[in-house]
Amino acid sequence: MAVDLLLGLQWGDEGKGKIVDVLTKNYDIIARFQGGPNAGHTLEFDGIKHVLHTIPSGIFHDNAVNLVGNGVVIDPVIFKKELDNLAKFNRDFTKNLLISRKAHLILPTHRLLDAASEASKGKAKIGSTLKGIGPTYMDKTGRNGIRVGDLELSNWQDKYRNLANKHEAMIDFYNVDLQYNLAELEAEFFEAIEVLKTLQFIDSEEYLHQAQKNNKTILAEGAQGSLLDIDFGTYPFVTSSNTTAAGACTGLGVAPGAINEVFGIFKAYTTRVGSGPFPTELFDSYGETMGRVGNEFGATTGRPRRCGWLDLVALKYAVQVNGVTQLMMMKGDVLSGFDKLKVCTAYNYKGEKITHLPYNIEAENVTPIYTEMEGWKEDLTKMNDASQLPKALNNYIAFLEKELEVPIKIVSVGPDRTQTIHR
Ligand code: IMP
Repeated sequence: MAVDLLLGLQWGDEGKGKIVDVLTKNYDIIARFQGGPNAGHTLEFDGIKHVLHTIPSGIFHDNAVNLVGNGVVIDPVIFKKELDNLAKFNRDFTKNLLISRKAHLILPTHRLLDAASEASKGKAKIGSTLKGIGPTYMDKTGRNGIRVGDLELSNWQDKYRNLANKHEAMIDFYNVDLQYNLAELEAEFFEAIEVLKTLQFIDSEEYLHQAQKNNKTILAEGAQGSLLDIDFGTYPFVTSSNTTAAGACTGLGVAPGAINEVFGIFKAYTTRVGSGPFPTELFDSYGETMGRVGNEFGATTGRPRRCGWLDLVALKYAVQVNGVTQLMMMKGDVLSGFDKLKVCTAYNYKGEKITHLPYNIEAENVTPIYTEMEGWKEDLTKMNDASQLPKALNNYIAFLEKELEVPIKIVSVGPDRTQTIHR
């Protein structure tokens, strides 16, 4: 059986958690393939709002196995907190939760290195979530990392000590004012490691290979968004993993030919948290309204998200890089009441009109060229059928489908699982 893939097409926070939760009933296995606790996947159902960071978003469905793949980086301390937060549901979630032995561990000193690196950058800082993501992936590619499977070896603590010592020397090298008590952080870390060790560690690529042979349905769940991809994003203001479709192959051990549907999630407007260029960013009342009505605050850090009009140049790029086969548009309800809407369809790039994403989209090079569209007034949040959608919204959708050349199959009209319209 083939593997379907779900990923974000903008700068993250598109609503992937909600859609994975909605789609999980169709799948036997939900597999996270990259990122780590920098992600905040928000799910709402039965009046409950729940945020997941590392645990895949299918966890609330008894029928699905949830796998944390080799491409993910795991902070045992945050993972333990996630498990503690699930305790209130009075269900044993761990029986459906599998961890790849090849996933790398975020150490306390990785978090400290992240903080030291950001502090040393001053104004040029990335705006990292400071969860230790960058330094952990650096150790992975530098071939120094500690993996989940190492916890089964008797000498893993020696490896830990060597790496932590090296990190401390690196932190000193940054020469920034960073207050920390490593003994306390380590006590918390080693306690969390013991909890992690109670979970099932597996050779996940073999598990997924057998699952495919046995016709199991698999959904690969991405984190962050395509414009934060380490290769294709707005470098250096990106995360440290491949958030695009190829990341699912390397982050799970799934062959490219096994990928079937690629579900691309985007918001009806654009948001970004952290630093970096954002051509359609708004600094006026429209942007303020998007932020307020859309509750645009980071699920992991609580930081306000920057808001702006939909950028079709960037979206088209993400559709191409990922080979998206179906689109899902989120938060159309947030735009209800806007008298007009703007959609960026081209850039003025150094005086020339272009429709592809250039190497550099900094404001001094790029000015968005907009198409203006009529807004809709209707409250969408109670609608549950495509036939109820207002004409102006249907025009907006039709315009996007024509530009992107991919059908929009789901329109989300609110955060709850039930506020989902299938087209
Ligand atoms: P890091 O991955 O924590 O190092 O952060 C690098 C950049 O990616 C920063 O601009 C973050 O705000 C952004 N980022 C990381 N994870 C997410 C996410 O899940 N949603 C939105 N932005 C994110």
